[in-house]
Amino acid sequence: MKRIAVFASGNGSNAVNLFEYFNVKQTQYNIIVDCIICNNPDAGIIEKTKQLNIDLFLFENSVFTQPDIIINLLMQREIDYIVLAGFLRLIHPDFIKTYQKKIINIHPALLPKYGGKGMYGSKVHESVIANKETESGITIHLVNEEYDKGEVLKQAKLDILSTDNPSSVAAKIHDLEYIYFPETVRDYILKS
Ligand code: GAR
Repeated sequence: MKRIAVFASGNGSNAVNLFEYFNVKQTQYNIIVDCIICNNPDAGIIEKTKQLNIDLFLFENSVFTQPDIIINLLMQREIDYIVLAGFLRLIHPDFIKTYQKKIINIHPALLPKYGGKGMYGSKVHESVIANKETESGITIHLVNEEYDKGEVLKQAKLDILSTDNPSSVAAKIHDLEYIYFPETVRDYILKS
């Protein structure tokens, strides 16, 4: 059994989608979402997990900058992979040392475009619209010490129409994420 800890900061729809994929629908892969780690007491994911059979751990932001407590928790729970699903902090190097090539992120743009510090969630889609891009998409990648710079595992594109706005792009991006994120995580874990 391979165990994933999902890190989430916000609404958590991707975290729930990963949970439903691995823990409910596709149990034959022997991959489970073991727990959710959150840094935001106002995150929508906290309410959402109350309906699911899963543990959620909420830590203050300061704990993520000296993460021994979290890393010990991950070790105790025998976590094999960390998946960042809308987690909006830079990952501390201690996580990367402990989980070499075992941390996967999803970014709501076609990296290297619209990546880096401060580029997350709706800010990405606002910039894409402001720059009159004709396409955007998602990037699923391994995490290293720099924001949005690790090896790319999967990209998927969508067209931006003249009628689109940041929230319609966000909705289309989420639809792509729900399709590709679980299966890309699955394929990477099964081959690594
Ligand atoms: C997702 O679109 C994800 O790609 C993005 O935040 C959203 C979270 O939605 N992540 C980033 O911007 C990371 N730089 P969710 O909370 O509903 O899963």
